[in-house]
Amino acid sequence: MTVSDNFEIQSFCSIMSMIDKLSEISETKDCLTRRYLTPEHRQANDLVAAWMSDAGMTVREDFVGNIIGRYEGAQCGLPAVIIGSHLDTVVDAGRYDGMLGVATGIECIRSLNARNIRLSCALEVIGFADEEGARFQSTYLGSKALAGTFEASLLGRKDQDGISMSNAMKAFGLNPDRYKEAARIPDDVLAYLEVHIEQGPILEEEGLAAGIVTSIAGATRIRVTVEGNAGHAGTVPMDLRKDALVAAGECIITVEELACSNSPVVATVGEINVRPGAPNVIPGLVHFSVDLRAAEDVKRKELQKEIKRNFDRIAKTRGVGISSEIVHEAESVDCSPDIISRIENSMVAEGHKAFTLFSGAGHDAAAMASLTDVGMIFVRCKGGISHNPAESITAEDAITGAKILLNVLENFDA
Ligand code: HGY
Ligand code: MN
Ligand code: MN
Repeated sequence: MTVSDNFEIQSFCSIMSMIDKLSEISETKDCLTRRYLTPEHRQANDLVAAWMSDAGMTVREDFVGNIIGRYEGAQCGLPAVIIGSHLDTVVDAGRYDGMLGVATGIECIRSLNARNIRLSCALEVIGFADEEGARFQSTYLGSKALAGTFEASLLGRKDQDGISMSNAMKAFGLNPDRYKEAARIPDDVLAYLEVHIEQGPILEEEGLAAGIVTSIAGATRIRVTVEGNAGHAGTVPMDLRKDALVAAGECIITVEELACSNSPVVATVGEINVRPGAPNVIPGLVHFSVDLRAAEDVKRKELQKEIKRNFDRIAKTRGVGISSEIVHEAESVDCSPDIISRIENSMVAEGHKAFTLFSGAGHDAAAMASLTDVGMIFVRCKGGISHNPAESITAEDAITGAKILLNVLENFDA
């Protein structure tokens, strides 16, 4: 059964207009940044709650700040298929990463509700909090809470202003002691489905609007600290310096060299801060991040060890201290073969090639896989650009993703 004739054209426009409206909610005027437990998170949750209720769902916010809409099945209280993605962003983000999946889920429910269709399961749409971890380096926080894998140690994590997650939760109106109550009972969840931009160039190269994700890369995020000696830029001879920033620079070049020689593993240093950060002071303390990704966990872990060995070598030759702390680690995750075949059937029913591809990016589906069967539908994005304000998709491709998802949901019933 195809849904093309069922999914009114105005539905698609509202997916794009919802995304545009969410993109106006940002911590800064000059770019899109919306981090966990900020006033902008509250605004986005309130706006999405209104859309969910308008689409025919009952709405609640859970104990870690996820916003959850529920559309009952033929009877109340049936196990649910969960559709979701995240409402938080990286710093200076694109507007489709995460938001596409939430808006698409809302529109699918709106379409079912408009036709008074009730399935043999409930449906829930979730706008996850804090998938990116931009504030506390706490990736997949909202989805982990649902999956029951939220680490309590995160509550003590501090942001760069020294505010702890638990205090930020209280200021947001949440009780940090009740995070466990966000966890779902596995029997209450049938599957998790996520529509997301590809964030890579494959679909565009193939000339396809959508694809099916086979597996999601594992990731390691490391916080590196380099301790040298701060000193006067004018008086300390070069051979007596313990310059933390130059040592960090050698580490960063080494990370790139090691990743290039261990392809297809990828490594990124995306964040660095230098103390005291004055032009006439030799840097004494540097913190920087290392982000590793690979389809194969063994390869990622081997590279992690090789990087550590090289950092120890650099510390020795430069007489500085170099320490590393793993702040996030996620194993690679396979999507469920059953969900993949359901999406394949729906893609074919909607007249599309059932093209499968790997996800180098992490997604809430990776965390939800410890709770239930997961599947993802990728939508083509221009040039594969993401985590960048130039991120863009077409309304037509958003439509394609929505129609495929709706077809999967309607046939979940069958
Ligand atoms: O980092 C990622 O892969 C995702 O955007 N959180
Ligand atoms: Mn992202
Ligand atoms: Mn994302």
